Amino acid sequence: MELTLKNVSYSYNPDAPEPVYAVRDVSLTIRSGDFAALIGHTGSGKSTLIQFMNGLLKPTEGQVLFNGEDIFEKKYPLKTLRQKVGLVFQYPEHQLFEETVLKDICFGPKNMGLSKEEQEERARHAMKLVGLAESYEDKSPFELSGGEKRRVAIAGVLAMKPECLILDEPTAGLDPAGRDDILGTVRALSDEEGIAVVLVSHSMEDVAVYAERLFVMKKGELLYDDTPKAVFRHYKELEQIGLSAPQVTYIAHALREKGFDVSEDAMTVAELKQEILRVLGK
Ligand SMILES: Nc1ncnc2c1ncn2[C@@H]1O[C@H](COP(=O)(O)OP(=O)(O)O)[C@@H](O)[C@H]1O
Ligand SMILES: [Mg+2]
Repeated sequence: MELTLKNVSYSYNPDAPEPVYAVRDVSLTIRSGDFAALIGHTGSGKSTLIQFMNGLLKPTEGQVLFNGEDIFEKKYPLKTLRQKVGLVFQYPEHQLFEETVLKDICFGPKNMGLSKEEQEERARHAMKLVGLAESYEDKSPFELSGGEKRRVAIAGVLAMKPECLILDEPTAGLDPAGRDDILGTVRALSDEEGIAVVLVSHSMEDVAVYAERLFVMKKGELLYDDTPKAVFRHYKELEQIGLSAPQVTYIAHALREKGFDVSEDAMTVAELKQEILRVLGK
């Protein structure tokens, strides 16, 4: 799987005398096995950008290629693409509507024209992937907790067996435990099922330690596309756009300014501890 945005731009008012661009000249590629985060301040164009990826929104300029094919060419099977590139919207629980969890998760597979048996088999598998016990099948989605509802919504997209899963601010509104749960689940999906993942977030602290690659947006433009370590070296620039590096980065830099030769690349408390012990010769 290879999904490419090629010089895409988007304006919500292209015909205005002075159109405003929500996305401007962004190019990037996502491949099978990628675990990426798309980060930027509110309004930087993240939600607009990800809607190009499954053809929900057509860029005003530029191209979207899936396995090398332009998805906005006539006759391109967009319906199939939307199964392969699964998009989980922000607050997806608002879109749950069936009477039971199982029926809700079957909705996508049903639309794909699968038999009832196949639908339920896929739904049950998806429930397992997101850690929902069988006892949830017959519950009403409305009696679940916030985190559980979100799992149901994610399972609904997974039941279509996507090759790429894009989640728009999946941790918004969850408490820290719920947040770690969801991120851990998504990480496992990537590791165990090989699904390419793009996590959208406005908080670096949230996703940075989970992602292997960061796309950083600034006012509609792609500012960085690199590993978290490389991106955090720009922690001063990140601050200017309302983002920050993990706390550990700041401590590492403060220590370096005091003359301790710790690596600036430590990203977790454990890594920094190692570095400090190393520098102290312990
Ligand atoms: N439906 C819309 N109509 C007009 N402007 C919009 C619409 N959706 C988003 N925008 C504008 O486009 C820019 C990017 O928004 P968005 O993609 O939602 O950013 P993010 O997801 O990073 O918060 C913002 O300035 C926002 O106000
Ligand atoms: Mg958004």
